[in-house]
Amino acid sequence: MIITFATQKGGTGKTTLAVAFANYISAISERKINVFDFDYQKSFYHKWKEDELLDIPKLYDVEIIGEEDEQPFSDFETLINLKESDEINLFDLAGTLDAKYSDLLIYSDFIVTPFEYSDVSVKSTLVFINMLGLLESEAERIFIRSKYDKGYKYLNQEAMDIELAKYGMLLPSPVFKRNCLQTINTRSLIGKQKYAVEHTFDELIKYINETSKIKIQVIKKREKIKDSIPTNDND
Ligand SMILES: Nc1ncnc2c1ncn2[C@@H]1O[C@H](COP(=O)(O)OP(=O)(O)OP(=O)(O)O)[C@@H](O)[C@H]1O
Ligand SMILES: [Mg+2]
Repeated sequence: MIITFATQKGGTGKTTLAVAFANYISAISERKINVFDFDYQKSFYHKWKEDELLDIPKLYDVEIIGEEDEQPFSDFETLINLKESDEINLFDLAGTLDAKYSDLLIYSDFIVTPFEYSDVSVKSTLVFINMLGLLESEAERIFIRSKYDKGYKYLNQEAMDIELAKYGMLLPSPVFKRNCLQTINTRSLIGKQKYAVEHTFDELIKYINETSKIKIQVIKKREKIKDSIPTNDND
């Protein structure tokens, strides 16, 4: 299965959520997860390399793709094999669109798009959705309210939510703005980080399990992730 974190807006939380999701899946599912960093900045990959210094076992491998290759999936078979595989193949893309992303965006099973409600972000998100339509992407579109500030009144939220719901699944639970997510690593999800993403990710996994022929098996999650209650709202 291919799950791709993408949108054409930079800085909306793609890499943060991709890392958190990969860690979360590693904790609650027996399925193997493979990460592909398809962003020229290679943030996910650099973080993963940096985390080799940590005294915690690695959860998954991260591979860089698309560096030299203009069309990394020109043989096509690789992409189809990743799609048909029982393993979870997670891609993190750059915040700018590139022709080399076309095949991946077309053949992903799920495209997860984190977005914010600022005017610029809303516009970019809609342009991205439109582009997926033009590509005739087969992927299910999933939208996540990212870096959501619960004390803030987002004036365009209602209209944007109605619009997004026409194109895909808008997950009910937002991922709130939290300091703890700024220091996430690729080897663990500490209690408050888990708390910050679990509602949203449980909705995401439920949706994937309902719509995909390959299911993300969920094992008893309490056993594998240590619970803790956040001390501060913004932590
Ligand atoms: N929920 C959150 N709460 C607080 N800070 C966040 C949250 N999500 C992301 N951030 C911060 O926002 C910044 C951008 O996040 P991130 O790098 O994940 O975005 P991105 O979409 O991958 O960016 P790019 O388009 O450059 O790849 C980072 O500094 C990250 O720590
Ligand atoms: Mg990124």
